Amino acid sequence: MADQPPPPTVRVQVTENARLLKLKEMFSSKYGHEPAFYVRAPGRVNLIGEHIDYCGYAVLPMAIEQDILAAVKPTNSKLVQLANTNPSYLDFSTSVDDIQIDKTKPFWHNYFLCGLKGIQDNFNLSSPTGMDCLLDGTIPPSSGLSSSSALVCCAGLVTLIANGLTLSKVELAETCARCERYIGTEGGGMDQSISFLAEEGTAKLIEFNPLRATDVKLPTGAVFVIANSCVEMNKAATAHFNIRVVECRLATKIIAKSRGLAWKELMKLGDLQIKLGVSLEDILTIVEELLHPEPYSCAEICEFLGISVEELRTTILSQNTQDVATFKLYQRAKHVYSEAARVLAFKAVCDDPPANAVQLLGDLMNQSHSSCRDMYECSCPDLDQLVDICLKSGAIGSRLTGAGWGGCAVSMVPAEKLNYFLSNVQDSFYKTDDQRLALKEKSIFATIPGSGAVVLLEEDKK
Ligand code: GLA
Repeated sequence: MADQPPPPTVRVQVTENARLLKLKEMFSSKYGHEPAFYVRAPGRVNLIGEHIDYCGYAVLPMAIEQDILAAVKPTNSKLVQLANTNPSYLDFSTSVDDIQIDKTKPFWHNYFLCGLKGIQDNFNLSSPTGMDCLLDGTIPPSSGLSSSSALVCCAGLVTLIANGLTLSKVELAETCARCERYIGTEGGGMDQSISFLAEEGTAKLIEFNPLRATDVKLPTGAVFVIANSCVEMNKAATAHFNIRVVECRLATKIIAKSRGLAWKELMKLGDLQIKLGVSLEDILTIVEELLHPEPYSCAEICEFLGISVEELRTTILSQNTQDVATFKLYQRAKHVYSEAARVLAFKAVCDDPPANAVQLLGDLMNQSHSSCRDMYECSCPDLDQLVDICLKSGAIGSRLTGAGWGGCAVSMVPAEKLNYFLSNVQDSFYKTDDQRLALKEKSIFATIPGSGAVVLLEEDKK
């Protein structure tokens, strides 16, 4: 990937940017010296393609304006000192020779350490440089807008620059996708990829293996609006996410074995499709034939695969899914293959929009939400209620975005209905509940495709 560009470095007038200026001042008063550089990594909204990246399928996100911004100064010490402008995120410091990521406690600094360790491992650095770092985030946490991955990406790029190293955007995305797993969740790489590969004005089709991003021009006349259900879901703190990853893995193996394939090597539903050499439509029929809708017990799975429970635990299950008793394989595989097809259909409509493009895209978003809710079971009552209200308020399509079980919905709204939509969702969803009302200011906003991660250097002061 040597011909791939690194993230851009942009010179900025800090005095003309209120947020940077405030960060610089806080940094200087905290650490007693000025930052040497800044890094910004954006969050994202996924328009369609949920829970399929870790199965090998393409997804269709765009970066949002909300981001993680870091002010950084490499030091001669062996200490990494981290602080956050949000006082609820406590200061943290560690020696670069003893970086420990505690999987049992998803503290904010652990995500930074994932990025740091990712770069350290990538370059085999025995002792990365110490640094002082102040972070400022505008992505609502645990809301499905990828605040944690943006922090990992920001930390990865900070560590890269602080150590005088170079990687392309693609290599950074792959490194950060890998190292975020140090926290224990087995994400698929969408969030880190879009954080580095995003470009202003365009959504992206992100494809994996090899990782690549293609522009997707969104239809004119429609606005994408993000609305937070105000139910927080931290995917590292619960097993929901990894259970789904494991269910997809088990479905892969059961179908592969039924079809006489070398099932032990196959881990992803996408690789299974390639091995079978069939279309997404055909593989949906195969799922119908070979999997049953009733949950599978561990005993049934072990008997079918001819392995012991011990082998199941060590070779297929993740650390936090060891004690799960039953797995739904039919429903998860149906979701993944149908969602993979919806992503391709969405891209095809955007590439060559017919007169009813917005309606077609809306239908795909609505089908995606139903499949997430009913087959993948990654929604929750508040999020379903929010999606319903969004549709009744004029959205053509509305669906949960990100991991789910809480967090945000993304809606596609005709531009001329935007004001009505916003005020109706405020009245029907936010004003009916005190807790939601308190969060309302930052909970609903229109968004446009933003740019990817960047290094910022202060213009020489004249
Ligand atoms: C999280 C993960 C992603 C992806 C989404 C669901 O954001 O980090 O890799 O799996 O959930 O689509």
